[in-house]
Amino acid sequence: MDLRDRPRRLRKDGIRQMVQETTLSVDDLIAPVFVDATSDSRTSISSMPGHSRVPVSEVVDRVNEILETGIEAIILFGIPEEKDSQGSRAWDESGVVQRATRVIDEQTDAYIITDVCLCEYTTHGHCGVVNSDTDTEMTVKNDQTLEHLGDIAVSHAEAGADMVAPSGMMDGMVKAIRDRLDTSGYTDIPIMSYAAKYHSNFYGPFRDAADGAPAFGNRRHYQMDPANRQEAIKEVEADIKQGADILMVKPALPYLDIIREVREKTTHPVAAYNVSGEYAMLHAAAEKGWLDLEAVAYESLLSIKRAGADLILTYFAEDIATEISNSGQQ
Ligand code: PBG
Repeated sequence: MDLRDRPRRLRKDGIRQMVQETTLSVDDLIAPVFVDATSDSRTSISSMPGHSRVPVSEVVDRVNEILETGIEAIILFGIPEEKDSQGSRAWDESGVVQRATRVIDEQTDAYIITDVCLCEYTTHGHCGVVNSDTDTEMTVKNDQTLEHLGDIAVSHAEAGADMVAPSGMMDGMVKAIRDRLDTSGYTDIPIMSYAAKYHSNFYGPFRDAADGAPAFGNRRHYQMDPANRQEAIKEVEADIKQGADILMVKPALPYLDIIREVREKTTHPVAAYNVSGEYAMLHAAAEKGWLDLEAVAYESLLSIKRAGADLILTYFAEDIATEISNSGQQ
C-alpha cells in the first residue's frame, strides 16, 4: 500500500474549508410563498411545519421576513377565492397572485418569480383545460392550455413579476409564453421552465398547501415518468429551443442524477426544486428525534448544489439562509 497519498491531510480544519468544492450561498436560494385569497389571516400548513398560507394583506410582511434572512428571490403560488373549470382566476388582473405581486413589487425589493400553472385554479385540479363533456379519459388538452398559459404569464408580468416559471408540463409551453411576453412588450422577463418535472409522489404536502390535488385521475399523462433519464434531456433541449432561460429539475433529492445530467448536457443555469415531500420527511424524522433537522437540511441542499444545481427552490430557504449568515459571523 502506497501511503504517500493521504487524503486525510486535507480534511483538517483550516485547510478543509480551502479545498471545499461546493459551497451553498444565500444567493442560490428561492423561497416559496403561498398567497391565499380565501382567508384574511395566516393559516398554517400542517404537513409543512413553519409554513403558512398568507392573505394578500400580509404578503408584504411575509416577504420582508424572508428578505431579512438575506434571501432575495421568492416564488409565488396562489390560492384563488374561487375555482372554475377553466381556471380563469389564474389570468385575472385582480387574481390573488397578480394582487400580491403588485404590492410586493411596490413595497419591497424582492425578486418576484411567479408559478404559471392552472392546477390551483381549476375545479378539477388539473394543470390545464379538460373537456369533460367529450373526453371520458379526462385528458388535459395541451394546445388549448397553451393559450391560457400565455395569458397568465402576461398578467403576472403586467403586475410586476420579474420572472415567470411555467410548471404545467405542457408541450410547447415555453414557446407559447415567450411569444406572448415578447409581443406584449416583456422581452426582458426571463422564463424558468419546470423542464423536467416528474410525476412524483413527493408533491403530496404541497397539494394540501395549495389545495391543488386533481379531483379525478392523475398527472401521469403530462408529467414525466420517474423511470426516465434520457427523456429529461429531450425535455430540456426542447425548452432551450423554445427560449427557456433557466431549466428546472423537480423534485431534487430523488433526482440528483437528472440534475447532474442536465448540468452536463447544457450551458443554461439549472434550478432544482427541493419539494414539499422532501421537506416534510426531514421534519417528520426530526420530530421523532431521529435526525438533526438543520444538519440534514443543509446537507440536502449542499448535495443538490454538488449535483449541479445553480439555484434551489426550497422550503428550508429561510432556515438555511439564517444558518449560513450565522456561521459566516463566527
Ligand atoms: C403545480 C405545482 C406543483 C408543485 C409546484 N407547482 C404540484 C404538482 O404538480 O402537483 C409542487 C411543489 C412541491 O411539492 O413542493 N403547478
